[in-house]
Amino acid sequence: AFQQRVFSGVQPTGNLHLGNYLGAIKRFAELQDSYDCIYCVVDMHAITQDMRVWGGPDELRRNIREVTAAYLAAGIDAERHIVFNQSQVAGHAELAWVFNCVARLGWLNRMTQFKEKAGKDRENASVGLYAYPTLMAADILLYRATHVPVGEDQKQHLELTRDIAQKFNNDFGPSIAAQGLGESYFPLPEPLIGGPAARVMSLRDGSKKMSKSDPSDLSRINLTDDADAIASKVRRAKTDSEPLPSEVEGLRPRPEAENLVGIYAALSGTTPAEVLQQFGAGQFSTFKGALVDLAVAKLGPIGAEMKRLVADPGHIDAVLQKGGERARVLADETMRQVKDIVGF
Ligand code: ADP
Ligand code: NA
Repeated sequence: AFQQRVFSGVQPTGNLHLGNYLGAIKRFAELQDSYDCIYCVVDMHAITQDMRVWGGPDELRRNIREVTAAYLAAGIDAERHIVFNQSQVAGHAELAWVFNCVARLGWLNRMTQFKEKAGKDRENASVGLYAYPTLMAADILLYRATHVPVGEDQKQHLELTRDIAQKFNNDFGPSIAAQGLGESYFPLPEPLIGGPAARVMSLRDGSKKMSKSDPSDLSRINLTDDADAIASKVRRAKTDSEPLPSEVEGLRPRPEAENLVGIYAALSGTTPAEVLQQFGAGQFSTFKGALVDLAVAKLGPIGAEMKRLVADPGHIDAVLQKGGERARVLADETMRQVKDIVGF
């Protein structure tokens, strides 16, 4: 009954990295021929953390443009699909309020991302950080999206989104029917998670995910890194002293090796098994040399295009404005129906 529609987003918090690209943005581009796609710069999520983390108004404006530039540089077509920033469409905040009243405290208390990001000083975390998952549910369901491409770290939030959609459909079932809107109003969106780079790990510590907020710049490859920076980070990536295994099972107890092989597979569009057919039983230095060449060949043009786009902020702002207008048409229709369903 629901149109096949993709929604996803990236926070404008700076330091866009290889994990964001392989786990999210590259896949956003790949889905364009199969779905009607909406890609959002989730700026309202960015301010849930301390201002020292997101950098303040000027930095936020710069980072909104940088994420937009990454979308366009990765090949997302803003004419065929919708690219915009969240704060420009009021429906995100409005629907999030309704979902705050549908979701239960116990559901949010289980969210591991809140625990990680709040750290030990939970009393000082923002209410917004705690409610982040209900805003994310609103982002997706405002467009009644059916599919959501994200990295592995977002899986629990997607499950919560489905729980919220289901509880809304149940609680308001009679009203949904009375409004002539069918049996259930919101689809239960499916996560699109997977592939060899669903969880790209830090280059310095195979037990931590590659992250924007890691204080070590050597832990991540940024999308705007030049060839020299990419080469030195790959060469200095932590590994053990064994040669590469020849079978994927041999990677399991070796997270650093598994991570680099997964990155190679994702960048080359192959599988870890195929990567090991070529490099298995060989020295890490040979494999790292090939990974440098591959990463520079794939990321170099994206970084260069991002820099070119960011130098023309007027163009980026025009893309976002037009995308916002198109998103608002869809969002307004949902909000009109949601208000009828709730009784507003
Ligand atoms: P971050 O987690 O780096 O702060 P976001 O929360 O904006 O970035 O995430 C944007 C997208 O990138 C999400 O779909 C998220 O799952 C994905 N992502 C983030 N880090 C990684 C990673 N290390 N590996 C794979 N995907 C990732
Ligand atoms: Na994330």
